[in-house]
Amino acid sequence: MDTIEIIKSPGTKIKSVDWNNLRFGVFFSDHIFVSEYTNDKWDNGTIQPYGAMDIEPANCTLHYGQTIFEGLKAFPSVKGGVNIFRPDMNGKRMMGSAEAVCIPPYPVEKFVEAVKEVVAIDSDWIPKKRGESLYIRPFSFGTGNFLGVNASDTYKFIIILSPVASYYKEGLNPVKILVETEKVRAVRGGLGAAKTAANYAASMRAGLMAHQKGFSQVLWLDGVHRKYIDEVGAMNIMFVINDELITPALDKGNILAGVTRNTVLQLAKEFGMKITEREISIDEVADAHKNGSLQEVFGTGTAAVISPVGMLQYKGKEMIINNNKIGKYAQRFYDTITGIQYGEIEDKYNWNVHLDI
Ligand SMILES: Cc1ncc(COP(=O)(O)O)c(C=O)c1O
Repeated sequence: MDTIEIIKSPGTKIKSVDWNNLRFGVFFSDHIFVSEYTNDKWDNGTIQPYGAMDIEPANCTLHYGQTIFEGLKAFPSVKGGVNIFRPDMNGKRMMGSAEAVCIPPYPVEKFVEAVKEVVAIDSDWIPKKRGESLYIRPFSFGTGNFLGVNASDTYKFIIILSPVASYYKEGLNPVKILVETEKVRAVRGGLGAAKTAANYAASMRAGLMAHQKGFSQVLWLDGVHRKYIDEVGAMNIMFVINDELITPALDKGNILAGVTRNTVLQLAKEFGMKITEREISIDEVADAHKNGSLQEVFGTGTAAVISPVGMLQYKGKEMIINNNKIGKYAQRFYDTITGIQYGEIEDKYNWNVHLDI
């Protein structure tokens, strides 16, 4: 493995953290990992103090958005040490995102090694309470300074760390979701499967309007027929109809291949559920709701793990799901995944990368 140079921060900001009010992505740890891409290769990288970066006004990423990111978490294990959940999956996905926007991919082994090293250096920043975690944000962007619309020759790959609160303050609460019928997040042949800034910029306005109407997120329909379900906010979406787990397939390239999605599908197999990855239309969901076969709807993602949907509104009509209560499947997936992450349940699939800190 490459040797990562380490430049230690002269002090620590850890005392300035409000540990009883962590929220999401507000506090940042003392160190970051930085690797530079020049002359067609990534360097070994440096761990250095967190601090402001110089950006020229002509920075190409500010103008054309050549940037990608990832999100994963490290958890305090009840057995001691730290569990980083499935970092290889994020590393692989980031390589795919890189390809989509012409960023040279950062190799998965280097990605996992850098995550481990920077988490180990700032291990004091891992919150101790059940439900809390250290959020890990790797990202990469073009550093060239020019105005021509073309890919940069130079890039940075950076990892920053942020202690975050539990997504749920008072247990798993079902959310209200608005089915978006006007705007679309991604189109076939576009960037939907990449974790790149453009997708999040494209989704902000619809999200804001949904918030103003009292919904927590929008459910995106496909950009071609405005009929098939893509995903919800920054989560993948799953339906339980007649005890069958149904989720949109990844083959159209317009939704993100969620790590939590993959985790739930593996567990569902272990639990003996029937699983189908396929197109599912909003009309099929509405029909299943009408005839009583729609048992559960839930989102899956690193932030919330599982987010039960209590109400879906489509074209002004409300569908109340499972009496606006958490379903047994959502609860089981949530309990099993968080149990593995915090080291309370056996990690049969070797999902955790454990650090003895
Ligand atoms: C658009 C989108 N879909 C789905 C997900 C869920 O992915 P994961 O389970 O890897 O967090 C995310 C979050 O990263 C996302 O941003």
